[in-house]
Amino acid sequence: MKVTLKIFRFNPETDKQPHYDHFTIEANPEDRILDCLNKIRWEQDSSLSYRMSCAHGVCGSDAVTINGSPALACQKLVKDYDYSKELVIEPLKFFPLIKDLNVDMRLFFKRIKAANPKQPAEKVSSVDMEKERAQSIQERAEFDDAIKCVLCGCCVAACPVELEQDHKFVGPAAILRAQRYIFDSRTQDATERMRVLEKPHGVWGCKSYFMCTVVCPKNIKVTEAILKTKKKIIQELHPKNDQETS
Ligand code: SF4
Ligand code: SF4
Ligand code: FES
Repeated sequence: MKVTLKIFRFNPETDKQPHYDHFTIEANPEDRILDCLNKIRWEQDSSLSYRMSCAHGVCGSDAVTINGSPALACQKLVKDYDYSKELVIEPLKFFPLIKDLNVDMRLFFKRIKAANPKQPAEKVSSVDMEKERAQSIQERAEFDDAIKCVLCGCCVAACPVELEQDHKFVGPAAILRAQRYIFDSRTQDATERMRVLEKPHGVWGCKSYFMCTVVCPKNIKVTEAILKTKKKIIQELHPKNDQETS
């Protein structure tokens, strides 16, 4: 069968404005959107630019906007969309554009780093490396969901706070990463990490719109993790407020 893809194009070396190109290819309903992009690049236009690596939902590098919603091109199939109409493929929103479907992820990773400072050296050196640091199944379950994150950026590209209200908001992926450490029973600087999240444009910027959870390709309950983190911050850093509200 024939499928048409309408793809966002922009080459900073030759274009003043972005435009869309249409490509019609032979595809099956079970083909992945990434297969379609590869087919176009191999057979019709080798200049089409997009990222990919694992092709199996592991590396998180092929996140794009498909029919208006962020997703991994290797996880979505043609049949997930109404392919009787053209499929619209665009770069992730919010991120600065580099070329075609490629966006600049540097700010994304910078924010994740800023929200997740390294453990201070004295805390690291106080750990007895000779001793096993056992963790119960329940303790591990506290951050099990967060470690599935593949840092694709889909959540950030869907977050209404990032897109419309506060462009400096640290974002769901950075808070999720912080949640992973704050709730790990082996972490020794959880309090300091919670203080970092309380900075302006931090965890309180999240307004629980749940869009991050809706689009996450790893089905992580991102908003739940953020709410859990907020609750812990109130309980541990502001216990007085916690008593007043309970
Ligand atoms: S939380 Fe989900 S959507 Fe956000 S970066 Fe991680 S895997 Fe991607
Ligand atoms: S729940 Fe919070 S982080 Fe997720 S999309 Fe909504 S505002 Fe953004
Ligand atoms: S190419 Fe690695 S997640 Fe899609």
